[in-house]
Amino acid sequence: KPYPVEPFRIKMVEPIRLIPPDERQKAMQTAGYNLFNLRAEDVFIDLLTDSGTGTMSQDQWAAMMTGDESYAGARSYYRLADVMQKIFGFEHFVPTHQGRAAENILTQLLVKPGMYVPSNMHFDTTDGNIRARGGRPTNLVIDEAFDPTNPHPFKGNMDVQKLRTFIEQVGPQNIPFGSITITNNAGGGQPVSLENIRQVAEVYHHYGIPFFIDACRFAENAYFIKQREPGCAHLSTLEIARQIFALADGAWMSAKKDALVNIGGFLAVRDDDLFQRICNELILREGFVTYGGLAGRDLDAMAVGLMEGLDEEYLAYRIGQTAYFADQLKSAGIPIIEPAGGHAIYLDAGRFLPHIPHAEYPGQALAAALYLEGGIRGVEIGSVMFAYPDPDSGEMIYPKLELVRLAIPRRTYTRSHFDYIVEVLKSLTDQRETLRGYRITYAPPLLRHFTARFEPL
Ligand code: F0G
Repeated sequence: KPYPVEPFRIKMVEPIRLIPPDERQKAMQTAGYNLFNLRAEDVFIDLLTDSGTGTMSQDQWAAMMTGDESYAGARSYYRLADVMQKIFGFEHFVPTHQGRAAENILTQLLVKPGMYVPSNMHFDTTDGNIRARGGRPTNLVIDEAFDPTNPHPFKGNMDVQKLRTFIEQVGPQNIPFGSITITNNAGGGQPVSLENIRQVAEVYHHYGIPFFIDACRFAENAYFIKQREPGCAHLSTLEIARQIFALADGAWMSAKKDALVNIGGFLAVRDDDLFQRICNELILREGFVTYGGLAGRDLDAMAVGLMEGLDEEYLAYRIGQTAYFADQLKSAGIPIIEPAGGHAIYLDAGRFLPHIPHAEYPGQALAAALYLEGGIRGVEIGSVMFAYPDPDSGEMIYPKLELVRLAIPRRTYTRSHFDYIVEVLKSLTDQRETLRGYRITYAPPLLRHFTARFEPL
């Protein structure tokens, strides 16, 4: 696949530097081999996350200058509300400082101990927020998602039959809300089809369960629907988005992804009573209902970014860049999740390092090696992030895939950065038998990947 020509030029630059190998080694020792503990300055190419790390446009920066910093009822809020109505069409919304603030409020209000929240797959903070309330996040993605080379066009789809069976098993009264994540971040950034969202909504509604969408990469998902789903090619990404959200009772979004801002989010619902309760929680923890913990200028950047994120020329570049990167890796024989998702490449550390067992964290080993070899920072999405003891038996449950995600900040890196990463991975391929696993020396009970410390084995 050819590299897409960027539909922009660069007006401001930020220097980056590859520090020498011995300094990288020292930095990792100091960090307890956890890439989250590194100083960003010591990272050359930072693919830790696509969250809040992208580049804003001149229109977004211009909008920030007109931000209205009134405590209540600011013009910025109304500008955002107009865009929210245009894209999502929910009756109510509140801004939040990021996605997990919305998750906190929603789970605080709805999840009681022992309750279940199904989704295709929950990402880490959603999973953590549900667990923090004694709830049980349940992943019901289609089986194809766990077959890294299966070319299914919508590997983020929920298994609708599994969902029905699950609801019958645990009882709809024990499910405060049902969810779906678009795109499926924990499972390779894979899209969900419009048809699947329709069926999932039908099942939830049949059982009287409110349906919420975790929407942070909705624009990329809409673009995949336009490209891949029969009968959708003539729809604009905006029309597709409107159809998606018309099916749901609510949504939350980390605007740090497809809204192209460095901070922000929202929680949107239809139900009047639930909205009242959300407002009360928001005021207690985040801020007044028209700013939700953000500055007025942040709301304006979000309003502009939401529309820019749906722009089809931008999306063609965005998805094309990821596809190019995936193609180069595949040609070099590096195992990745295929087909490429939207916002990231997922290296299959399980296949890359078959000699390292789950309990010695192959993803952690590969992520550490990428930094030591090339100053590249990715994130482990495997047993460090998602292994949990079963709440009934206490037995450790390991995730099916051991991945390292290389997330691509929006409008930030260029082709040569990706070519460099491919070269580093080629050189790691030659030495992979020599790579060793890791042992955890410290970990908190929830979301341990952020602060755990490791020792090489
Ligand atoms: N839901 C999904 C699917 C996410 O990917 C994230 C964040 C959140 C919710 C929480 O949003 O960070 O604004 O509080 N994902 C980032 C990532 C951090 O690296 O994938 P947040």
